[in-house]
Amino acid sequence: MCGIIGYIGKGNVKDILVEGLKRLEYRGYDSSGIAVINRGRITCTKAVGNISKLEEKISGKKMPGNVGIAHTRWATHGSPILKNAHPHMDIRNRIAVVHNGIIENFQYLRNKLTKKGVRFRSDTDTEVLAHLISQNFKGNLSEAVRNSLKQVEGTYGIAVICSDTPNEIVAAKKGSPLIVAVGKDEMFVTSDLSATLRHTKKIIPLEDNEMAIIRPDNYEIKDIENVPVLKKIEEVSWNIDMIEKGGYRHFMLKEIHEQPESITNSMRGRIDEALSSSRLGGLLVFGNKLKKVEKIIISACGTSWHAGLIGEYMIEDLARIPVEVEYASEFRYRNPILNEKTLIIAVSQSGETADTLAAMREAKIKNSIIMGICNVVGSSIARESDGGIYLHAGPEIGVASTKAFTSQVTVLLLLALHFGRMNDLSKSKSKEIIDELRTIPSKVETILKEENKIKKLAELYFNKNNFLYLGRGYNFPTALEGALKLKEISYIHAEGYPAAEMKHGPIALIDKDMPVVVIATSDTVYDKIISNIQEIKARNGKVIAVVNKGDTKIKKLADHVISIPKTMEILSPLLTIIPMQLLAYHIALKRGCNVDQPRNLAKSVTVE
Ligand code: F6R
Repeated sequence: MCGIIGYIGKGNVKDILVEGLKRLEYRGYDSSGIAVINRGRITCTKAVGNISKLEEKISGKKMPGNVGIAHTRWATHGSPILKNAHPHMDIRNRIAVVHNGIIENFQYLRNKLTKKGVRFRSDTDTEVLAHLISQNFKGNLSEAVRNSLKQVEGTYGIAVICSDTPNEIVAAKKGSPLIVAVGKDEMFVTSDLSATLRHTKKIIPLEDNEMAIIRPDNYEIKDIENVPVLKKIEEVSWNIDMIEKGGYRHFMLKEIHEQPESITNSMRGRIDEALSSSRLGGLLVFGNKLKKVEKIIISACGTSWHAGLIGEYMIEDLARIPVEVEYASEFRYRNPILNEKTLIIAVSQSGETADTLAAMREAKIKNSIIMGICNVVGSSIARESDGGIYLHAGPEIGVASTKAFTSQVTVLLLLALHFGRMNDLSKSKSKEIIDELRTIPSKVETILKEENKIKKLAELYFNKNNFLYLGRGYNFPTALEGALKLKEISYIHAEGYPAAEMKHGPIALIDKDMPVVVIATSDTVYDKIISNIQEIKARNGKVIAVVNKGDTKIKKLADHVISIPKTMEILSPLLTIIPMQLLAYHIALKRGCNVDQPRNLAKSVTVE
């Protein structure tokens, strides 16, 4: 999704902005651009495609100056062509704007501006902002931005520069993330702290309807009514190594291999030995409210929604509280039955997904209790929840989510134990699960050592056009997630199904060209899964089965088996997903796909 970086200070503005853009690449983009104020004029350069294309264009250009803004665009309004790339400028080229989000009334504003004689140079919604600000500019940039934003409906994170006021950047936020990063005699504004982490760990996340005016050595934060807002500078714990590849070919592979550590970090310090329960500091704010919860709704999108499905099984199993899992995009427009005894859990890696955020806000209006489970500290979901739990998985850069998923499942398990122990989960059962959870990181490591075998399977199957993924019980959501991983990064059509549903339709697809990945670990539905495998084999389908070490029955039936260590059924998704992540990765690699930045996808979907 679009990314913003702005810089003001004595550093080399061109290099700092380009480096920042590269850090934003992982979010997904189709074009980029940079605008720098240079001797009283704005120099603006844009390019379609990779940042390297932009670098080529500016390589010969001197861009002195000490203030500039830059952007990676992920097309919403207008196709990904040069004229639509940001920054956008007003007619006199004295104002440049970069924008994330969507201006919903842009057509109305565009018509109005056109009638006043403005000639538009792009098809974007953003360009109206540049012209509006220009028309409102009477020498004070922040005032012009403020007055313009009052006419705007929709969402925005913006950074604006003006050649008449070259000693400041004005930024504003509503619905799209924006952070001020505070350096020594230099200041940044960004939509994603990866872009500025190399320079400073000191940040000020902006809230909706807040504006920032940044100068090299000071900043002002105000609300949209021009009332000053006092904000504390926060210090982030992420460091630069965490957002680099560390010797791996891709971020996704690095993140798959980080899972023993990220799962450990998600549970670190969160086990209460004496009570055989979990200790979750972020839930203290709820006081006794959680004891009164009668229904839980988990709301999320994509991979986080899959983790939510596993959470549903866990919480109902251990805590006997009814749980529903909703796609946030559906939930926000339904008329769900909610009250003050309903707990909404918003699950999100980025903490910025527009639909998840909107679903949470909808539930807030209806007085429900709001809990956030997310990875990015200080993200919108984290800030707007009543309380919550961080994943502590470290930054996830690969667009396809891997370690965030296993951390989400880990945290949801801790939450299920917490609710379970508040209800009738016995101490001994809870202890048994906790003891087994502690063994999971080393079991994940064992599976990762089998990567070469999985790579060989990828070599056999990378040219297939379709895949089916089947699982039952706790591993039905894992089958969905395995299929999502494959389709996202290899562009192979893949479907996940509960294994027994196969008979009700998908079985028609099975022939010798259809590989079927079956999660067949030895749990309560093992015998049923064996019958499902027989049904596939009877139709000449190719079966790749994920089984437990020592399994002999399935070895005789399946074409290939991937053996993983045994664990309790409730914890099994934490292991069964690992070979599926690796299979998707190696298939995509064989097909020559861009694993970390798959086509059309964005890391953080901050628009509807
Ligand atoms: C899949 C993937 C997406 C995200 C979804 C929600 O690999 O990454 O499906 O899971 O866009 O994102 P978050 O978790 O940031 O809310």
